[in-house]
Amino acid sequence: MLVTHRRKFVLTVIPFCAGIFAFWTISEVYHKRKALLFEKTFREQHSKREGHYTRPEHAVANQSQRNFHKHTLDEPPVYGLPKPLYLHYIRFKPKNGDTEFKFTDFLSVMSAVQYLKPDEIVLHGDFVPSGPYWLNLTSRKLIKHISMERPIDVGMRRRKPKKIGFIEHSADIAKLDVLVEYGGITADFDVYFIRGERIKEILRRRKAVTCYGDQDGNNIGLVAGHKDSLFLWAWRRSYRDIYVDDWNFNQAFVSTYLSAVLPDEVYVVDHVCNNPFPAGNILDQFFKQYGMIQWKDSAAIHSYQRLAGVAVDTSKDLEGEATSFKEMLQYIYHNQSLPLVNPLFRDEIFAAP
Ligand SMILES: *[C@@H]1O[C@H](CO)[C@@H](O)[C@H](O)[C@H]1NC(C)=O
Ligand SMILES: *[C@@H]1O[C@H](CO)[C@@H](O)[C@H](O)[C@H]1NC(C)=O
Ligand SMILES: *[C@@H]1O[C@H](CO)[C@@H](O)[C@H](O)[C@H]1NC(C)=O
Repeated sequence: MLVTHRRKFVLTVIPFCAGIFAFWTISEVYHKRKALLFEKTFREQHSKREGHYTRPEHAVANQSQRNFHKHTLDEPPVYGLPKPLYLHYIRFKPKNGDTEFKFTDFLSVMSAVQYLKPDEIVLHGDFVPSGPYWLNLTSRKLIKHISMERPIDVGMRRRKPKKIGFIEHSADIAKLDVLVEYGGITADFDVYFIRGERIKEILRRRKAVTCYGDQDGNNIGLVAGHKDSLFLWAWRRSYRDIYVDDWNFNQAFVSTYLSAVLPDEVYVVDHVCNNPFPAGNILDQFFKQYGMIQWKDSAAIHSYQRLAGVAVDTSKDLEGEATSFKEMLQYIYHNQSLPLVNPLFRDEIFAAP
């Protein structure tokens, strides 16, 4: 009797536990690999420039092809600016619980205050940040917090809610939600406004602005538009109807696809989310060298500084050996003004026909 019990125990419970353990190990390894792979693909994708895009200087005008290359910004304004003109940031509680508002976050907001001059700057999210830089901005009424729950609804499949693939996608959905509701501009905190007036100029002539990322797709770091933009609505809707658990699918590929389908609606801005280019030495050229990366004509710079390994925690860190990154941050910190934009500078890019 005892022997059979022990046999039964050996034959069922132990394999069961071993199975669970094996499953847990495999899923841990799978998730680690997925995260590593993402970081690697991200770097690789940003190192390639050529592909399914054309810049105006290479484009062949062909009016019969759905106006793909018709645009310039020479036409007179057709829209007023969204009123009031909001700049929206989004931040949900991070996994590590860090609520501090960093010096570089502060500089991003100051770049907007000085060079974009929106009517209001709002941070949407599920916690109020802490720290002196947040207090500095709020005491001067330069930013306000609006409470927002993290959106996680990405539609249904076989009558069950689909799972959101990356927690970062919540913030992307939230960006599109606030744009569809209020209009305006959304930016990540590693976006710095340089020629913010340019974004307003575009918004007076297009329903939406999105950012060129790389040959594979656009980047959601900076998006702007009027609340009745079909492009923004369709992009937001993609997260419900065709959400895919893939880092780039909705945030990059769908945006590019829609910019090709709705070329008259949307301006894809160049030299913002692809400048500096986070690839190997080019990243170093911006973050560790001086004068190699031209940033002064761009509407804004999406720095991707988390990939650079250069810490800027206080204004002291802006001193010392000059780099282009520090030069840009100092220009913001000291509210300097820049010379006029190079007249040959172009910042529109098209999805190729
Ligand atoms: C313009 O597009 C049409 C239709 O796609 C094509 O037949 C024509 O050859 C194109 N013209 C030029 C100059 O590329
Ligand atoms: C906010 O920070 C700026 C720049 O460091 C400083 O000049 C200003 O006095 C601060 N204002 C407040 C209210 O803390
Ligand atoms: C930045 O400088 C401009 C003048 O170049 C000035 O009009 C503006 O008030 C300054 N902004 C801040 C926030 O100090």
